[in-house]
Amino acid sequence: MKFGVFLPNGSNGYIPSAGSPIYEPTFQHNLAISLAAEKHGLDFVLSMMKFRGFGGETGYWDSCLESFTLMAGIASATSSIGLFPSISILSQHPAVVARMVATIDDISGGRCGLNIVTGWNRPEYAQMGMWPGDDHYQRRYDYAAEYVEILQALWQSGRASWEGEYFKIDDCSVLPTPANPIPLVCAGQSPAGRAFVAKHADHQFVLTSEDNLVRSVEDIRVKSAASGRKVGVYALFHMILADTDEMAQAQVRQIIELADQGAISNILASASLDTNTGGTADQLKAALDQDVESGNMAFMGIPVIYGSANTIRQRIDAIAQKTGIDGMLFSWPDFVAGIERFGEEVLPDLQVG
Ligand SMILES: Cc1cc2nc3c(=O)[nH]c(=O)nc-3n(C[C@H](O)[C@H](O)[C@H](O)COP(=O)(O)O)c2cc1C
Repeated sequence: MKFGVFLPNGSNGYIPSAGSPIYEPTFQHNLAISLAAEKHGLDFVLSMMKFRGFGGETGYWDSCLESFTLMAGIASATSSIGLFPSISILSQHPAVVARMVATIDDISGGRCGLNIVTGWNRPEYAQMGMWPGDDHYQRRYDYAAEYVEILQALWQSGRASWEGEYFKIDDCSVLPTPANPIPLVCAGQSPAGRAFVAKHADHQFVLTSEDNLVRSVEDIRVKSAASGRKVGVYALFHMILADTDEMAQAQVRQIIELADQGAISNILASASLDTNTGGTADQLKAALDQDVESGNMAFMGIPVIYGSANTIRQRIDAIAQKTGIDGMLFSWPDFVAGIERFGEEVLPDLQVG
């Protein structure tokens, strides 16, 4: 079982609530988190990219450190942990990104992967004149498929020509190539997103309830086997670890009571523009009413594992055994303290570790 950290390079991490720490993202914070994760033997850190936040009283994600430049800094200050920057594919040409990844791979000695983000949120790109039109909602995974094929061709041979619907490159040279294959991850959840993942990614990130996870793992297994591939599933969770179950429950209650309703309604307004159904936009809408175990909007729809170290250990073992996932990606209200406690009190005695 692999364990990763969802780096808080956007303001306030992944909890739109005044009941959780409110902060600006900084390199020093993200580095301290990465070093703590590396010290405890966690497998990877992943930073996101949001070009426009969701405001509200907490200014949720209004600041966001750029994913690749942040990971380059973390690469040079760490030695063993895996590094996943996120590419919002509408924002950069694949030939530029192939080179950026090769550069971080060189800085880190072969530790760089890539998270493919197709872009479900029009305002982020429209503000920069980069939104190609609302057709993109339906066509984003076709665009992503071309994008990834170009990346792979350039990484494999350092040279590629391509004439597709979205890209035209002519004997394009991108050297140096990375020393090892670059692991690709993607969080596509919709039918189109899952088909893309099965064909092009090495791992899928999923945010959903435990029961849905079982179906999700099976679905990706079947779909990827059909194209002769094996794609692993990593599930996303918040972790709230306290001295007792009651103390953890009190923290969860406070986060729900102080949820940033302004930010949440801005997120849902953006999600409601997405015409690609059955994916994250629909999940976010459903998360308004869901319990925290399944994913509530006070936690950005991400399921929460909470309790004492003992309870959290049991939950992780149970989820891993029931669902057959390959890894978990965690976020905490207070990342450094959370990772330290996870590393000291939970990890050593996990059965699935
Ligand atoms: C672990 C994880 C990381 C993600 N990173 C980003 C990101 O950096 N930027 C972004 O706009 N969306 C991000 N997303 C959203 C997904 O990329 C994707 O757009 C979303 O899950 C919608 O799936 P769908 O397109 O199939 O509906 C992330 C989701 C997960 C679970």
